[in-house]
Amino acid sequence: MNKKRGYAITIALSVIIVVLIGMRIFFWINKDSKAKEPEYVLFYAENQVEDYPTTMGAEKFAELVYEKTGGRIKIIIKCNAELGSEMQVIEQMRYGGISFARVSLSQLAEVSPQLNVLQLPYLYSNSDHMWRVLDGEIGNQFLEETSSQGIIGLSWYDAGARNFYSTAPIRSLEDLQGMNVRVQESDMMADMVSALGGNPMKIVYAEVYSALEQGIVDCAENNWPSYESMKHYNVARYYTLDEHTRVPELQICSKVIWDKLDESDQQIIMDCAKESALLERHLWQEREKTSREIAEKSGITVIELSFEEKMRFRDAVSSVYEKYCGDQMDVIEKIMKY
Ligand code: GCU
Repeated sequence: MNKKRGYAITIALSVIIVVLIGMRIFFWINKDSKAKEPEYVLFYAENQVEDYPTTMGAEKFAELVYEKTGGRIKIIIKCNAELGSEMQVIEQMRYGGISFARVSLSQLAEVSPQLNVLQLPYLYSNSDHMWRVLDGEIGNQFLEETSSQGIIGLSWYDAGARNFYSTAPIRSLEDLQGMNVRVQESDMMADMVSALGGNPMKIVYAEVYSALEQGIVDCAENNWPSYESMKHYNVARYYTLDEHTRVPELQICSKVIWDKLDESDQQIIMDCAKESALLERHLWQEREKTSREIAEKSGITVIELSFEEKMRFRDAVSSVYEKYCGDQMDVIEKIMKY
């Protein structure tokens, strides 16, 4: 009997101890999750796929901001253009509907036309030249100036050089004549294609594949990672290395959201954006190579242009300089000498 009572007491005590430990863990977890509840949950728009360098840069940015604000600011990345096309995203950001994005300068220049000067065809002699300009006083000044349009420029991301790719080979300027060419939603890019003899058609990025597949356009233009990751190489089998533009990309924040943050959080966001850009630029170099390899392995034809032919392309687009940046000739000269 005594033995039985002993067992019963031991079991009862064990149950009480287990319940107490459980309650402690429960309250501890709850207390902890309460402490970590973010003050801000902000969305970030990206139109590339998940493993693309700019998306990975965005993930790094979000991770750094979360860490450095002790979990107070949580940024959620929405890739694959889930939040809309770049122009739709920019419009929403001007009114605070979306907090962050990474966009192509071609699109931001539609609302901040002074940016066009940084994407003029054949402006930079190579990638290093472009980075000297963007990392220097000119790049900083242009980042600051975007704020007048309800957008805060945070950092520059790499997007390499853009080339034409097509369903029939482009070996010379003559081959481009009369081709329907997809361009971004950018007046300057449309005029550039007209100057080269093509018929520009503005089509959003997500629809380029079907436009090529259905024969709505014969040609598009982009860097190697976009050509590969969007599978355009399956439908446009000729890639001509004319390197007509280097269009940088920007990480941006809505000014409406920015103005709600205190100065120290603004500084953290700025610093994290710049730190994430270093990673993106590194990933970019690798992805350019692997994307080219993937496309080449699939049997596409890569066309190199002679120096003389490239100069013909360059001369053909010179009218764009005057039309879009006639009042920024001093900046152009400065960039060219940088
Ligand atoms: C690049 C750029 C995109 C852009 C696309 C386009 O891929 O990274 O942001 O949308 O060009 O040609 O539209």
